[in-house]
Amino acid sequence: LVVILDFGSQYTHLIARRLREVHVYCELLAYDTPAAKLQALNPKGIVLSGGPSSVYEVDAPHMDVAILDLGIPLLGICYGLQELAHHLPGGAVVAGDKKEFGHATLTLGVGGGTAPSPLFDGFPPAFTAWMSHGDKLASLPDGFAVLASTANTEHAAVGDEARRFHGLQFHPEVTHSDHGTALLRNWTRSVCGCAGDWTMSDFVEEAVAHIRTRVGNGVVIGAVSGGVDSTVAAVLLQRAIGSQFRAFLVDNGLLRKDEVAEVVARLHDKCGVSLTTIDGAETFLSRLEGVVEPERKRKIIGNTFIDLFDAEASKVDAAFLLQGTLYPDVIESVSHKGPSATIKTHHNVGGLPAHMKLQLIEPLRFLFKDEVRALGLVLGIEAASVGRHPFPGPGLAIRILGDVTPTRLAVLRDADAIYIEELRAAGLYDQIGQAFAVLLPVKAVGVMGDCRTYEEVIALRAVETSDFMTANWFDLPTPLLRRVSTRIVNEVRGVNRVTYDITSKPPGTIEWL
Ligand code: XMP
Repeated sequence: LVVILDFGSQYTHLIARRLREVHVYCELLAYDTPAAKLQALNPKGIVLSGGPSSVYEVDAPHMDVAILDLGIPLLGICYGLQELAHHLPGGAVVAGDKKEFGHATLTLGVGGGTAPSPLFDGFPPAFTAWMSHGDKLASLPDGFAVLASTANTEHAAVGDEARRFHGLQFHPEVTHSDHGTALLRNWTRSVCGCAGDWTMSDFVEEAVAHIRTRVGNGVVIGAVSGGVDSTVAAVLLQRAIGSQFRAFLVDNGLLRKDEVAEVVARLHDKCGVSLTTIDGAETFLSRLEGVVEPERKRKIIGNTFIDLFDAEASKVDAAFLLQGTLYPDVIESVSHKGPSATIKTHHNVGGLPAHMKLQLIEPLRFLFKDEVRALGLVLGIEAASVGRHPFPGPGLAIRILGDVTPTRLAVLRDADAIYIEELRAAGLYDQIGQAFAVLLPVKAVGVMGDCRTYEEVIALRAVETSDFMTANWFDLPTPLLRRVSTRIVNEVRGVNRVTYDITSKPPGTIEWL
Protein backbone atom coordinates (compact mmCIF):
# COMPACT_ATOMS: atom_id res chain seq x y z
CA LEU A 1 0.00 0.00 0.00
CA VAL A 2 1.06 3.51 -0.87
CA VAL A 3 -0.95 6.38 0.60
CA ILE A 4 -1.46 9.63 -1.27
CA LEU A 5 -2.22 12.60 0.93
CA ASP A 6 -4.37 14.97 -1.09
CA PHE A 7 -3.51 18.64 -0.84
CA GLY A 8 -6.04 19.52 -3.54
CA SER A 9 -4.17 19.38 -6.82
CA GLN A 10 -6.15 18.78 -9.99
CA TYR A 11 -3.62 16.03 -10.70
CA THR A 12 -3.94 14.05 -7.46
CA HIS A 13 -5.98 11.27 -9.02
CA LEU A 14 -3.52 10.99 -11.84
CA ILE A 15 -0.91 10.02 -9.23
CA ALA A 16 -3.22 7.20 -8.14
CA ARG A 17 -3.72 6.15 -11.72
CA ARG A 18 0.04 6.04 -12.41
CA LEU A 19 0.65 4.02 -9.25
CA ARG A 20 -1.96 1.50 -10.38
CA GLU A 21 -0.21 1.43 -13.76
CA VAL A 22 3.00 0.34 -12.07
CA HIS A 23 0.98 -2.28 -10.16
CA VAL A 24 1.01 -0.68 -6.75
CA TYR A 25 -2.13 -0.48 -4.64
CA CYS A 26 -2.80 3.01 -3.37
CA GLU A 27 -5.34 4.89 -1.33
CA LEU A 28 -6.09 8.56 -1.33
CA LEU A 29 -6.52 10.20 2.06
CA ALA A 30 -7.09 13.72 3.29
CA TYR A 31 -3.96 15.83 3.75
CA ASP A 32 -4.51 16.08 7.51
CA THR A 33 -4.86 12.34 8.17
CA PRO A 34 -3.30 11.74 11.61
CA ALA A 35 0.11 10.05 11.69
CA ALA A 36 -1.25 7.35 14.02
CA LYS A 37 -3.87 6.37 11.47
CA LEU A 38 -1.25 6.23 8.74
CA GLN A 39 1.04 4.14 10.90
CA ALA A 40 -1.80 1.69 11.51
CA LEU A 41 -2.26 1.32 7.74
CA ASN A 42 1.45 0.52 7.50
CA PRO A 43 2.02 1.94 4.02
CA LYS A 44 5.28 1.31 2.19
CA GLY A 45 5.37 4.93 1.10
CA ILE A 46 3.44 8.19 1.31
CA VAL A 47 3.02 10.67 -1.54
CA LEU A 48 2.29 14.27 -0.64
CA SER A 49 0.33 15.63 -3.60
CA GLY A 50 0.44 19.03 -5.20
CA GLY A 51 -2.08 21.69 -4.27
CA PRO A 52 -3.16 25.24 -5.08
CA SER A 53 -2.02 26.85 -1.81
CA SER A 54 1.26 28.34 -0.60
CA VAL A 55 2.74 26.67 2.48
CA TYR A 56 3.54 30.00 4.15
CA GLU A 57 -0.07 31.26 4.01
CA VAL A 58 -1.95 31.37 7.31
CA ASP A 59 -4.68 28.96 6.31
CA ALA A 60 -2.52 26.67 4.16
CA PRO A 61 -3.29 22.95 4.49
CA HIS A 62 -0.65 21.09 6.52
CA MET A 63 0.05 17.46 7.23
CA ASP A 64 0.46 16.01 10.71
CA VAL A 65 4.19 16.65 11.21
CA ALA A 66 4.54 13.44 13.22
CA ILE A 67 4.47 11.73 9.80
CA LEU A 68 8.06 12.87 9.38
CA ASP A 69 9.08 10.57 12.25
CA LEU A 70 7.32 7.40 11.06
CA GLY A 71 10.34 6.16 9.10
CA ILE A 72 8.12 5.76 6.02
CA PRO A 73 9.45 6.95 2.62
CA LEU A 74 7.91 10.27 1.58
CA LEU A 75 7.60 11.68 -1.91
CA GLY A 76 6.50 15.31 -2.10
CA ILE A 77 5.23 16.53 -5.45
CA CYS A 78 5.15 20.31 -6.03
CA TYR A 79 3.19 21.61 -2.99
CA GLY A 80 4.12 18.30 -1.31
CA LEU A 81 7.80 19.11 -1.73
CA GLN A 82 7.24 22.59 -0.33
CA GLU A 83 5.37 21.06 2.58
CA LEU A 84 8.41 18.91 3.35
CA ALA A 85 10.74 21.88 3.11
CA HIS A 86 8.41 23.96 5.28
CA HIS A 87 8.47 21.48 8.17
CA LEU A 88 11.99 20.08 8.02
CA PRO A 89 14.84 21.98 9.71
CA GLY A 90 16.88 24.02 7.26
CA GLY A 91 14.21 24.18 4.59
CA ALA A 92 12.45 27.34 3.44
CA VAL A 93 9.86 28.16 0.81
CA VAL A 94 9.36 31.55 -0.82
CA ALA A 95 7.32 32.98 -3.64
CA GLY A 96 9.38 32.62 -6.83
CA ASP A 97 10.14 35.77 -8.80
CA LYS A 98 9.08 33.85 -11.89
CA LYS A 99 6.20 31.44 -12.05
CA GLU A 100 6.93 28.36 -14.08
CA PHE A 101 4.20 26.67 -16.09
CA GLY A 102 4.58 24.16 -18.87
CA HIS A 103 7.46 22.14 -20.21
CA ALA A 104 10.94 22.49 -18.74
CA THR A 105 14.13 20.58 -19.36
CA LEU A 106 15.47 18.81 -16.32
CA THR A 107 19.14 18.05 -16.05
CA LEU A 108 20.20 15.37 -13.66
CA GLY A 109 22.95 15.93 -11.13
CA VAL A 110 23.40 19.65 -11.78
CA GLY A 111 23.44 22.36 -9.17
CA GLY A 112 24.98 21.06 -6.02
CA GLY A 113 27.14 17.95 -6.19
CA THR A 114 24.84 15.04 -6.13
CA ALA A 115 24.96 11.32 -5.62
CA PRO A 116 22.99 9.24 -8.14
CA SER A 117 19.47 8.63 -6.86
CA PRO A 118 17.58 5.38 -7.46
CA LEU A 119 14.68 7.62 -8.47
CA PHE A 120 16.33 8.30 -11.80
CA ASP A 121 17.66 4.83 -12.60
CA GLY A 122 17.68 4.33 -16.34
CA PHE A 123 17.01 8.01 -17.09
CA PRO A 124 18.83 10.02 -19.79
CA PRO A 125 20.97 12.93 -18.45
CA ALA A 126 18.27 15.44 -19.48
CA PHE A 127 14.53 15.04 -20.00
CA THR A 128 11.37 17.09 -20.27
CA ALA A 129 8.95 17.52 -17.38
CA TRP A 130 5.77 19.48 -16.70
CA MET A 131 6.06 22.36 -14.27
CA SER A 132 3.21 24.25 -12.67
CA HIS A 133 4.27 26.31 -9.67
CA GLY A 134 4.74 29.81 -8.35
CA ASP A 135 6.63 29.08 -5.12
CA LYS A 136 10.10 27.62 -4.82
CA LEU A 137 12.57 26.38 -2.23
CA ALA A 138 14.86 29.10 -0.91
CA SER A 139 16.94 26.59 0.97
CA LEU A 140 17.14 22.82 1.20
CA PRO A 141 16.30 20.99 4.41
CA ASP A 142 19.33 19.55 6.23
CA GLY A 143 20.49 16.26 4.76
CA PHE A 144 18.97 16.92 1.33
CA ALA A 145 20.87 17.01 -1.96
CA VAL A 146 19.83 18.41 -5.33
CA LEU A 147 19.09 15.61 -7.79
CA ALA A 148 17.95 17.61 -10.82
CA SER A 149 17.52 21.23 -11.88
CA THR A 150 15.97 23.31 -14.64
CA ALA A 151 17.15 26.67 -15.95
CA ASN A 152 14.65 28.37 -13.60
CA THR A 153 14.46 25.97 -10.71
CA GLU A 154 17.58 24.80 -8.95
CA HIS A 155 15.63 22.42 -6.72
CA ALA A 156 13.59 20.59 -9.37
CA ALA A 157 14.25 17.24 -7.71
CA VAL A 158 15.78 16.82 -4.26
CA GLY A 159 16.26 13.97 -1.87
CA ASP A 160 17.60 12.70 1.40
CA GLU A 161 18.40 9.08 0.53
CA ALA A 162 19.16 8.16 4.15
CA ARG A 163 15.72 9.15 5.42
CA ARG A 164 14.11 8.14 2.09
CA PHE A 165 12.53 11.58 1.66
CA HIS A 166 12.25 12.90 -1.91
CA GLY A 167 10.69 15.95 -3.45
CA LEU A 168 9.85 16.91 -7.01
CA GLN A 169 8.97 20.40 -8.14
CA PHE A 170 7.55 18.95 -11.39
CA HIS A 171 4.59 16.64 -11.96
CA PRO A 172 5.68 13.11 -12.91
CA GLU A 173 2.03 12.03 -12.98
CA VAL A 174 1.00 14.03 -16.05
CA THR A 175 1.65 12.61 -19.49
CA HIS A 176 3.52 15.77 -20.51
CA SER A 177 6.37 14.63 -18.26
CA ASP A 178 8.71 12.17 -19.97
CA HIS A 179 9.50 9.08 -17.94
CA GLY A 180 7.08 10.12 -15.18
CA THR A 181 5.71 6.61 -14.85
CA ALA A 182 9.25 5.22 -14.78
CA LEU A 183 10.10 7.62 -11.97
CA LEU A 184 7.13 6.45 -9.92
CA ARG A 185 8.03 2.83 -10.67
CA ASN A 186 11.61 3.48 -9.46
CA TRP A 187 10.33 5.16 -6.31
CA THR A 188 7.90 2.38 -5.42
CA ARG A 189 10.39 -0.41 -6.18
CA SER A 190 13.78 0.95 -5.08
CA VAL A 191 12.81 3.40 -2.36
CA CYS A 192 9.62 1.89 -0.90
CA GLY A 193 10.33 -1.75 -1.65
CA CYS A 194 6.91 -2.44 -3.17
CA ALA A 195 6.65 -5.76 -4.99
CA GLY A 196 4.56 -4.20 -7.75
CA ASP A 197 2.22 -7.16 -8.13
CA TRP A 198 -1.13 -5.42 -7.67
CA THR A 199 -3.60 -6.06 -10.51
CA MET A 200 -7.18 -5.24 -11.51
CA SER A 201 -8.25 -8.56 -9.91
CA ASP A 202 -7.13 -7.12 -6.60
CA PHE A 203 -9.25 -4.06 -7.33
CA VAL A 204 -12.26 -6.36 -7.68
CA GLU A 205 -11.54 -7.98 -4.30
CA GLU A 206 -11.14 -4.62 -2.60
CA ALA A 207 -14.20 -3.09 -4.24
CA VAL A 208 -16.33 -6.13 -3.41
CA ALA A 209 -15.29 -6.02 0.23
CA HIS A 210 -15.91 -2.29 0.40
CA ILE A 211 -19.38 -2.53 -1.19
CA ARG A 212 -20.40 -5.37 1.15
CA THR A 213 -19.40 -3.42 4.24
CA ARG A 214 -21.14 -0.27 3.07
CA VAL A 215 -24.38 -1.93 1.95
CA GLY A 216 -24.85 -4.51 4.70
CA ASN A 217 -28.30 -6.03 4.23
CA GLY A 218 -29.55 -3.07 2.22
CA VAL A 219 -30.77 -3.10 -1.35
CA VAL A 220 -29.07 -1.20 -4.18
CA ILE A 221 -30.90 -0.15 -7.33
CA GLY A 222 -29.36 1.14 -10.52
CA ALA A 223 -30.22 1.98 -14.10
CA VAL A 224 -28.23 0.22 -16.80
CA SER A 225 -27.97 1.36 -20.39
CA GLY A 226 -25.84 -1.26 -22.04
CA GLY A 227 -22.97 1.23 -22.08
CA VAL A 228 -19.60 0.18 -20.72
CA ASP A 229 -19.71 2.08 -17.44
CA SER A 230 -23.12 0.96 -16.24
CA THR A 231 -22.45 -2.59 -17.41
CA VAL A 232 -19.18 -2.88 -15.51
CA ALA A 233 -20.66 -1.23 -12.41
CA ALA A 234 -23.66 -3.58 -12.49
CA VAL A 235 -21.58 -6.74 -12.85
CA LEU A 236 -19.33 -5.58 -10.01
CA LEU A 237 -22.37 -5.01 -7.77
CA GLN A 238 -23.78 -8.41 -8.71
CA ARG A 239 -20.42 -9.93 -7.79
CA ALA A 240 -20.47 -8.14 -4.44
CA ILE A 241 -24.06 -8.49 -3.25
CA GLY A 242 -25.91 -10.76 -5.71
CA SER A 243 -29.67 -10.23 -5.72
CA GLN A 244 -29.45 -7.35 -3.23
CA PHE A 245 -28.63 -5.41 -6.39
CA ARG A 246 -31.56 -4.73 -8.74
CA ALA A 247 -30.86 -3.27 -12.14
CA PHE A 248 -33.38 -1.55 -14.39
CA LEU A 249 -33.10 -1.12 -18.12
CA VAL A 250 -35.40 1.60 -19.40
CA ASP A 251 -36.29 0.69 -22.98
CA ASN A 252 -36.97 4.16 -24.30
CA GLY A 253 -37.58 2.94 -27.83
CA LEU A 254 -34.50 4.91 -28.85
CA LEU A 255 -31.91 2.17 -28.54
CA ARG A 256 -30.03 0.59 -31.41
CA LYS A 257 -30.93 -2.53 -33.32
CA ASP A 258 -31.31 -5.57 -31.02
CA GLU A 259 -29.81 -3.58 -28.14
CA VAL A 260 -32.41 -4.45 -25.50
CA ALA A 261 -32.02 -8.17 -26.17
CA GLU A 262 -28.24 -7.85 -26.10
CA VAL A 263 -28.23 -6.06 -22.76
CA VAL A 264 -30.52 -8.67 -21.24
CA ALA A 265 -28.35 -11.48 -22.62
CA ARG A 266 -25.16 -9.89 -21.36
CA LEU A 267 -26.21 -8.74 -17.92
CA HIS A 268 -28.96 -11.14 -16.91
CA ASP A 269 -28.35 -14.36 -18.82
CA LYS A 270 -24.57 -14.32 -18.73
CA CYS A 271 -23.67 -12.41 -15.57
CA GLY A 272 -26.69 -13.18 -13.41
CA VAL A 273 -27.65 -9.55 -12.75
CA SER A 274 -31.21 -9.24 -11.44
CA LEU A 275 -32.59 -7.10 -14.27
CA THR A 276 -36.01 -5.60 -14.90
CA THR A 277 -36.72 -4.16 -18.33
CA ILE A 278 -39.09 -1.21 -18.25
CA ASP A 279 -40.94 -0.97 -21.54
CA GLY A 280 -41.23 2.74 -22.08
CA ALA A 281 -41.04 2.96 -25.86
CA GLU A 282 -44.60 4.13 -26.34
CA THR A 283 -44.45 6.75 -23.60
CA PHE A 284 -41.19 8.19 -24.92
CA LEU A 285 -42.29 8.23 -28.55
CA SER A 286 -45.65 9.80 -27.81
CA ARG A 287 -44.02 12.53 -25.72
CA LEU A 288 -41.51 13.14 -28.52
CA GLU A 289 -44.10 13.40 -31.24
CA GLY A 290 -43.51 16.47 -33.39
CA VAL A 291 -40.51 17.59 -31.29
CA VAL A 292 -37.58 18.72 -33.41
CA GLU A 293 -35.54 21.04 -31.22
CA PRO A 294 -32.56 19.09 -29.75
CA GLU A 295 -32.58 20.49 -26.22
CA ARG A 296 -36.33 19.87 -25.97
CA LYS A 297 -35.77 16.31 -27.06
CA ARG A 298 -33.15 15.89 -24.34
CA LYS A 299 -35.34 17.43 -21.68
CA ILE A 300 -38.36 15.29 -22.51
CA ILE A 301 -36.23 12.16 -22.61
CA GLY A 302 -34.51 13.01 -19.31
CA ASN A 303 -37.79 13.68 -17.53
CA THR A 304 -39.55 10.66 -18.96
CA PHE A 305 -36.63 8.49 -17.97
CA ILE A 306 -36.88 9.70 -14.39
CA ASP A 307 -40.67 9.22 -14.31
CA LEU A 308 -40.48 5.62 -15.50
CA PHE A 309 -37.42 4.65 -13.49
CA ASP A 310 -38.90 6.21 -10.38
CA ALA A 311 -42.26 4.47 -10.80
CA GLU A 312 -40.65 1.06 -11.10
CA ALA A 313 -37.73 1.50 -8.70
CA SER A 314 -39.92 2.88 -5.88
CA LYS A 315 -41.52 -0.56 -5.68
CA VAL A 316 -38.20 -1.73 -4.29
CA ASP A 317 -37.31 -0.76 -0.76
CA ALA A 318 -33.81 0.42 -1.63
CA ALA A 319 -31.34 2.42 0.41
CA PHE A 320 -28.69 2.94 -2.28
CA LEU A 321 -28.44 4.01 -5.89
CA LEU A 322 -25.63 2.74 -8.11
CA GLN A 323 -24.03 5.21 -10.49
CA GLY A 324 -21.32 4.41 -12.99
CA THR A 325 -19.59 7.76 -12.53
CA LEU A 326 -15.98 7.77 -13.74
CA TYR A 327 -13.16 9.98 -12.61
CA PRO A 328 -13.27 12.28 -15.66
CA ASP A 329 -16.96 12.97 -14.85
CA VAL A 330 -15.90 13.90 -11.34
CA ILE A 331 -13.20 16.28 -12.56
CA GLU A 332 -15.55 17.86 -15.10
CA SER A 333 -18.18 18.54 -12.52
CA VAL A 334 -15.84 20.13 -9.98
CA SER A 335 -13.30 21.91 -12.12
CA HIS A 336 -15.66 23.92 -14.28
CA LYS A 337 -17.03 25.93 -11.42
CA GLY A 338 -17.47 29.13 -13.30
CA PRO A 339 -20.42 29.79 -15.54
CA SER A 340 -19.69 28.17 -18.87
CA ALA A 341 -21.89 28.09 -21.90
CA THR A 342 -24.08 25.04 -22.15
CA ILE A 343 -23.43 23.50 -25.55
CA LYS A 344 -25.56 20.44 -24.77
CA THR A 345 -27.11 19.24 -21.57
CA HIS A 346 -25.99 15.66 -21.09
CA HIS A 347 -28.65 13.53 -19.56
CA ASN A 348 -27.91 10.86 -16.98
CA VAL A 349 -29.47 9.64 -13.76
CA GLY A 350 -28.00 12.63 -11.88
CA GLY A 351 -31.32 14.34 -11.28
CA LEU A 352 -33.43 11.76 -9.51
CA PRO A 353 -36.40 13.02 -7.50
CA ALA A 354 -35.39 14.13 -4.02
CA HIS A 355 -38.04 11.93 -2.37
CA MET A 356 -36.01 8.86 -3.31
CA LYS A 357 -33.41 9.79 -0.67
CA LEU A 358 -30.89 7.24 -1.80
CA GLN A 359 -27.24 7.14 -0.93
CA LEU A 360 -24.96 6.95 -3.94
CA ILE A 361 -22.68 4.02 -4.64
CA GLU A 362 -20.03 4.94 -7.18
CA PRO A 363 -17.51 2.10 -7.38
CA LEU A 364 -15.83 3.44 -10.55
CA ARG A 365 -15.41 6.95 -9.23
CA PHE A 366 -11.63 6.87 -9.22
CA LEU A 367 -11.13 5.00 -12.47
CA PHE A 368 -10.46 6.22 -15.97
CA LYS A 369 -12.24 4.80 -19.01
CA ASP A 370 -9.46 2.43 -20.04
CA GLU A 371 -9.25 1.15 -16.46
CA VAL A 372 -13.00 0.49 -16.49
CA ARG A 373 -12.55 -1.53 -19.67
CA ALA A 374 -9.74 -3.51 -18.04
CA LEU A 375 -11.93 -4.06 -14.99
CA GLY A 376 -14.76 -5.29 -17.23
CA LEU A 377 -12.48 -7.92 -18.76
CA VAL A 378 -11.40 -9.10 -15.30
CA LEU A 379 -15.09 -9.40 -14.38
CA GLY A 380 -15.58 -11.72 -17.34
CA ILE A 381 -17.47 -9.34 -19.63
CA GLU A 382 -16.59 -10.09 -23.25
CA ALA A 383 -14.10 -7.82 -25.03
CA ALA A 384 -16.60 -6.65 -27.66
CA SER A 385 -18.87 -5.30 -24.91
CA VAL A 386 -16.23 -3.48 -22.88
CA GLY A 387 -14.82 -1.97 -26.07
CA ARG A 388 -18.11 -0.49 -27.23
CA HIS A 389 -18.20 3.12 -28.34
CA PRO A 390 -20.11 5.49 -26.04
CA PHE A 391 -23.81 5.87 -26.80
CA PRO A 392 -25.65 8.97 -25.59
CA GLY A 393 -28.44 8.73 -23.02
CA PRO A 394 -31.06 10.31 -25.35
CA GLY A 395 -30.19 7.58 -27.83
CA LEU A 396 -31.22 7.70 -31.46
CA ALA A 397 -33.46 10.71 -30.81
CA ILE A 398 -30.39 12.94 -31.11
CA ARG A 399 -29.24 11.10 -34.23
CA ILE A 400 -32.53 11.66 -35.98
CA LEU A 401 -32.71 15.25 -37.18
CA GLY A 402 -36.32 16.29 -37.32
CA ASP A 403 -39.24 14.12 -36.28
CA VAL A 404 -38.61 10.94 -34.30
CA THR A 405 -41.09 8.41 -35.66
CA PRO A 406 -41.12 4.60 -35.54
CA THR A 407 -40.48 4.45 -39.29
CA ARG A 408 -37.52 6.80 -39.17
CA LEU A 409 -36.15 4.96 -36.12
CA ALA A 410 -36.28 1.69 -38.06
CA VAL A 411 -34.42 3.27 -40.98
CA LEU A 412 -31.68 4.64 -38.77
CA ARG A 413 -31.32 1.37 -36.82
CA ASP A 414 -30.81 -0.65 -39.98
CA ALA A 415 -28.37 1.81 -41.53
CA ASP A 416 -26.38 2.09 -38.30
CA ALA A 417 -26.19 -1.68 -37.89
CA ILE A 418 -24.77 -2.12 -41.41
CA TYR A 419 -22.21 0.61 -40.84
CA ILE A 420 -21.00 -0.80 -37.52
CA GLU A 421 -20.95 -4.35 -38.89
CA GLU A 422 -18.70 -3.23 -41.77
CA LEU A 423 -16.39 -1.29 -39.43
CA ARG A 424 -15.96 -4.37 -37.27
CA ALA A 425 -15.41 -6.60 -40.31
CA ALA A 426 -12.71 -4.21 -41.54
CA GLY A 427 -10.99 -4.35 -38.14
CA LEU A 428 -11.41 -0.58 -37.71
CA TYR A 429 -13.95 -0.41 -34.90
CA ASP A 430 -11.41 -0.37 -32.08
CA GLN A 431 -9.31 2.38 -33.68
CA ILE A 432 -12.30 4.70 -33.79
CA GLY A 433 -13.51 6.65 -30.77
CA GLN A 434 -17.12 6.78 -31.86
CA ALA A 435 -18.92 5.89 -35.09
CA PHE A 436 -22.60 6.01 -35.94
CA ALA A 437 -25.14 6.83 -38.59
CA VAL A 438 -27.33 9.94 -38.55
CA LEU A 439 -30.67 10.44 -40.27
CA LEU A 440 -30.94 13.87 -41.89
CA PRO A 441 -34.09 16.00 -42.03
CA VAL A 442 -34.09 16.28 -45.80
CA LYS A 443 -35.14 14.10 -48.67
CA ALA A 444 -33.19 13.80 -51.89
CA VAL A 445 -33.91 12.69 -55.40
CA GLY A 446 -32.32 9.58 -56.82
CA VAL A 447 -32.77 7.00 -59.50
CA MET A 448 -33.11 3.30 -58.77
CA GLY A 449 -33.80 0.93 -61.62
CA ASP A 450 -35.69 3.12 -64.02
CA CYS A 451 -37.57 4.96 -61.34
CA ARG A 452 -37.13 8.31 -59.73
CA THR A 453 -36.87 8.13 -55.95
CA TYR A 454 -37.34 10.83 -53.33
CA GLU A 455 -36.07 9.46 -50.06
CA GLU A 456 -34.16 9.93 -46.79
CA VAL A 457 -30.44 10.76 -46.49
CA ILE A 458 -28.02 9.06 -44.10
CA ALA A 459 -24.82 10.71 -42.86
CA LEU A 460 -22.01 8.54 -41.50
CA ARG A 461 -19.80 9.83 -38.71
CA ALA A 462 -16.55 8.43 -37.32
CA VAL A 463 -14.11 10.29 -35.09
CA GLU A 464 -10.86 9.63 -33.32
CA THR A 465 -10.52 11.25 -29.94
CA SER A 466 -8.81 10.74 -26.61
CA ASP A 467 -11.35 12.48 -24.39
CA PHE A 468 -14.42 13.33 -26.53
CA MET A 469 -13.80 17.02 -25.75
CA THR A 470 -12.04 17.42 -29.08
CA ALA A 471 -12.09 14.98 -31.97
CA ASN A 472 -10.82 14.55 -35.51
CA TRP A 473 -12.91 13.01 -38.25
CA PHE A 474 -11.60 9.57 -39.08
CA ASP A 475 -10.09 8.98 -42.49
CA LEU A 476 -12.03 5.86 -43.46
CA PRO A 477 -10.73 3.86 -46.44
CA THR A 478 -12.64 4.56 -49.66
CA PRO A 479 -13.47 0.89 -50.40
CA LEU A 480 -15.12 0.64 -46.99
CA LEU A 481 -17.16 3.81 -47.58
CA ARG A 482 -18.19 2.45 -50.97
CA ARG A 483 -19.29 -0.87 -49.46
CA VAL A 484 -21.26 0.74 -46.63
CA SER A 485 -22.97 3.19 -48.99
CA THR A 486 -23.97 0.45 -51.45
CA ARG A 487 -25.28 -1.79 -48.71
CA ILE A 488 -27.30 0.93 -46.99
CA VAL A 489 -28.96 2.11 -50.19
CA ASN A 490 -29.68 -1.46 -51.30
CA GLU A 491 -30.73 -2.92 -47.97
CA VAL A 492 -32.44 -0.11 -46.10
CA ARG A 493 -35.79 0.77 -47.54
CA GLY A 494 -36.42 4.50 -47.68
CA VAL A 495 -32.79 5.67 -48.09
CA ASN A 496 -31.34 6.67 -51.45
CA ARG A 497 -28.25 8.64 -50.48
CA VAL A 498 -25.30 8.32 -48.06
CA THR A 499 -22.84 11.06 -47.12
CA TYR A 500 -19.72 11.08 -44.93
CA ASP A 501 -19.21 13.80 -42.32
CA ILE A 502 -15.75 15.39 -42.58
CA THR A 503 -16.08 17.87 -39.71
CA SER A 504 -13.84 17.77 -36.64
CA LYS A 505 -14.71 18.95 -33.13
CA PRO A 506 -14.48 21.88 -32.83
CA PRO A 507 -16.10 23.37 -34.86
CA GLY A 508 -18.57 20.48 -35.06
CA THR A 509 -19.69 18.43 -32.09
CA ILE A 510 -19.51 14.65 -32.25
CA GLU A 511 -23.27 14.16 -32.33
CA TRP A 512 -25.27 16.18 -34.83
CA LEU A 513 -27.71 17.36 -32.15
P1 XMP B 1 -20.70 16.06 -28.36
O1 XMP B 1 -21.79 15.81 -29.36
O2 XMP B 1 -21.08 17.04 -27.28
O3 XMP B 1 -20.52 14.67 -27.64
O4 XMP B 1 -19.39 16.39 -29.03
C1 XMP B 1 -19.46 14.34 -26.78
C2 XMP B 1 -19.76 12.96 -26.21
O5 XMP B 1 -20.93 13.02 -25.40
C3 XMP B 1 -21.94 12.18 -25.91
N1 XMP B 1 -23.22 12.89 -25.75
C4 XMP B 1 -24.13 12.59 -24.80
N2 XMP B 1 -24.11 11.63 -23.85
N3 XMP B 1 -26.21 12.39 -23.12
C5 XMP B 1 -25.18 11.52 -23.03
O6 XMP B 1 -25.23 10.64 -22.18
C6 XMP B 1 -26.30 13.37 -24.05
O7 XMP B 1 -27.25 14.12 -24.10
C7 XMP B 1 -25.18 13.47 -24.93
N4 XMP B 1 -24.90 14.31 -25.97
C8 XMP B 1 -23.68 13.92 -26.44
C9 XMP B 1 -21.57 11.94 -27.34
O8 XMP B 1 -22.12 10.71 -27.82
C10 XMP B 1 -20.07 11.93 -27.29
O9 XMP B 1 -19.59 10.69 -26.84
